[in-house]
Amino acid sequence: MNITRIALAATLALALPLAAQAQQAKLKVGLMLPATGTFAALGTAIENGFRLYVTEQGGKLGGREIEFVKVDDESDPSKATDNVNKLIKRDNVDVVVGTVHSGVALAMARAVKESNTLLIVPNAGADAITGPLCAPNIVRSSFSNWQPGFATGVMAAQKGYKRAMTIYWNYAAGQESAKGFTEAFEKGGGKVIKDLSLPFPNVEFQALLTEIAAQKPDVVFAFFAGAGAAKFVKDYDAAGLRKTTPLIGSGFLTDGVLEAQGPSAQGLLTALHYADGLNTPRDTAFRNKYAVSYKLQPDVYAVQGYDAAQILAAGLNAVKGDMGKRDVMLSAMRKSNIDSPRGKYTLAAAGNPVQDFYIREAKGRENLMTGIAVKVLPDPGRGCNMR
Ligand code: BEZ
Repeated sequence: MNITRIALAATLALALPLAAQAQQAKLKVGLMLPATGTFAALGTAIENGFRLYVTEQGGKLGGREIEFVKVDDESDPSKATDNVNKLIKRDNVDVVVGTVHSGVALAMARAVKESNTLLIVPNAGADAITGPLCAPNIVRSSFSNWQPGFATGVMAAQKGYKRAMTIYWNYAAGQESAKGFTEAFEKGGGKVIKDLSLPFPNVEFQALLTEIAAQKPDVVFAFFAGAGAAKFVKDYDAAGLRKTTPLIGSGFLTDGVLEAQGPSAQGLLTALHYADGLNTPRDTAFRNKYAVSYKLQPDVYAVQGYDAAQILAAGLNAVKGDMGKRDVMLSAMRKSNIDSPRGKYTLAAAGNPVQDFYIREAKGRENLMTGIAVKVLPDPGRGCNMR
């Protein structure tokens, strides 16, 4: 900066009240997402979606330019508290956006409750985040683990299956998805005869596939995602189970991984809050822009990242970028009606989307919408006592 510009900046700073200066400063968004490991591609899609929305708004939300600070959380819960505190305490971010893995997100929720930092969760479904850990400064643009599990259970019962087995990674996302599935499936007249699990991110499925072959259920519900889901679906097929025992799942089983799964995934039915082939003007516009920007088709993770930015924008617009008006901002975020590529939705009092769940069938490289599993499904928000 030359002398004249320094003098000008100093004069401007003196002339503007403090609140106005804060409004003009860049808004620091801390992105805590996996850049490595089995969920790396999911983290990239979330970041792509978030950045796309910001770009559409001319690089500003609520009139403030956005600056990104990034941390790779490695989907490792044991490093989560240190990682989120890098953003909160070292980088002084205005808002944290993250993450994919439920175990990591639980630690993030505890840390932001302590520091009162704003957190927008763009994937991780841990039920407690909009349950016992709910707080005015935490919202989610994705789902609770219970939701897609429950929707898949409704779909399975409607298909007339009676005996099911579940298989999942043994942490909050797998356990809670299977619980949601069991609740709806058993309400619909079915019975879950056995739950199988393995530690995250283990992909040695063989012993569990042998157990499924021995039990001969009518259907298998699976929770896996990312690279682990790609391997599971291929191993299920290679074990000969695809021909004898239908495999279903919450849509993470096939979202963003159909190319890697190849013929092994064809025909798989899943339930999720996003699908290919929605063919609404909103979704088509989003998909075209995403494809042009990233030379890729979007998936559910990209939509959730895009919507995280939309929710933040709803809050910032209400206060013209002045995060000092915190209560007004938080209330505007919660009350926003999100015009999402997945379809419009609102947030429940606990901060979780109330949204439709689609039935999807894997065809080629698409999870094509073939129907609705449950319309306007709220998470029960069990244990949320907002103060
Ligand atoms: C989770 O850990 O909450 C999660 C990870 C990947 C896909 C869906 C949920």
